[in-house]
Amino acid sequence: MTLENILSETDDGICTITVNRPDKLNALNKKTIAEIGLAVKHAEKDNSVNVIILTGAGNKAFVAGADISELANYNLEEAKALSKHGHDVFNSIENCKKPVIAAINGFALGGGCELAMSCHLRIASDNAKFGQPEAKLGLTPGYAGTQRLPRLIGRSKATELLLTADMISAAEALQLGLVNYVVKQEELMGKCLEIASKIKLQAPVAVAEIISCINTYYSGKDGFAEEINAFGRCFTTEDFKEGTTAFLEKRKANFKGK
Ligand code: COA
Repeated sequence: MTLENILSETDDGICTITVNRPDKLNALNKKTIAEIGLAVKHAEKDNSVNVIILTGAGNKAFVAGADISELANYNLEEAKALSKHGHDVFNSIENCKKPVIAAINGFALGGGCELAMSCHLRIASDNAKFGQPEAKLGLTPGYAGTQRLPRLIGRSKATELLLTADMISAAEALQLGLVNYVVKQEELMGKCLEIASKIKLQAPVAVAEIISCINTYYSGKDGFAEEINAFGRCFTTEDFKEGTTAFLEKRKANFKGK
């Protein structure tokens, strides 16, 4: 499958995946969702990649939602299949063993907000706007907005945003805990790279286990039990040996991700 709507570039351990439909404000048609899934899977398997940054082309939108022109005439079965596909791809981002940072460079509406929420960290530029406007279109969110938004910002405010279809500013998103940082647009990629560079110094196996422990809790399973197992598994890895040995030898660790 050739990637038509996605750009992917890896530099020094950081893979930047860009949704590239700027004339449609990077709206997600079916093909684009599939391509995001493929690009993330590819980066997850690539040993040269430590961290993934997901962003939108241009300086106006991260992703302005599902492509309304594509879904406008769907029937029940087509709509459910679309939603299931979106859930599968977005779950694969959330469960990616490598951290995925959303660099939110503008509108993150509907599927765009849902895409950002499936990432592990969210950094927004000061012109970013967030919202789940689906009710305005006679829809529920289809890519887990009703599930991830309450988990991220709490039930009261999430319910308000979902029911009013209100759009909020980057500053409000920061106040609600929807994003980690808000920076000037020209500083967005720099801030993402700064965080990615810190993560890159950590042991990849530990990073993957931490993601898994957090996801276990938020998927309604026993995260406490998962942490005990993950902690134990770390002791069987070369990264653990290297991390502790490097500390004792007062040198920088050289992790292999094994
Ligand atoms: N699906 C399909 N096309 C979309 C889109 C979407 N979700 N969001 C934007 N576009 C397209 C517009 O149709 C327009 O295309 P055109 O130039 O061929 O007419 C282009 O992107 C630019 O958008 P435009 O609406 O002209 O920009 P704007 O600055 O006036 O408004 C928004 C920006 C984001 C407020 C507005 O585009 C919007 O409300 N988009 C839909 C958001 C939404 O409801 N998302 C949830 C979908 S389930």
